[in-house]
Amino acid sequence: MIREVLKMGDARLLRVAEPVTEFDTPELHALVQDMLDTMKSLNGAGLAAPQIGVNQRVVIFGVETNQRYPDAKPVPYTVLINPIVEPMFKMGMAAEFMEEGWEGCLSVPGMRGVVERYFAVQYRGFDQFGKEFEREASGFHARVVQHECDHLDGVLYPMRIRDFTRFGFTDVLFPDGNAPADD
Ligand code: NI
Repeated sequence: MIREVLKMGDARLLRVAEPVTEFDTPELHALVQDMLDTMKSLNGAGLAAPQIGVNQRVVIFGVETNQRYPDAKPVPYTVLINPIVEPMFKMGMAAEFMEEGWEGCLSVPGMRGVVERYFAVQYRGFDQFGKEFEREASGFHARVVQHECDHLDGVLYPMRIRDFTRFGFTDVLFPDGNAPADD
């Protein structure tokens, strides 16, 4: 079922979400399905449960190959629950490397901004069946994970913007329609 996505300004987006304690339940499967339906209906790259008003540590994300972004590598469709995200060293770098990139958010519709994120991360957590898994990700994949997991701690991407000259309305920033994916 497609659910309403809360918009920035709603206090429910600022809460720290609660860990999931029971897996493989009808309620959890229904939540994941609703999140998927909602994300797909809005062409999002990811969605966190707090964005539909559910205060639990559940995120989904995934991007298929998109003709609009031929250079963007696909991100596997993933359900990630109770996540832990840690920065990784980039090859040849002495410390965690951060990279700037454009972001959007379904809770901040019609806008884009440049945010610094760790270039590479290791993340782990559980799927909706309670199976634990761990992955390494870099680039856009790592960015999406960090963006979605921020929602679980009440952080929206505009709260991380440092240079507000690169924050604005999508159709003004990208008049040719080649804006980066909504997430
Ligand atoms: Ni978002």
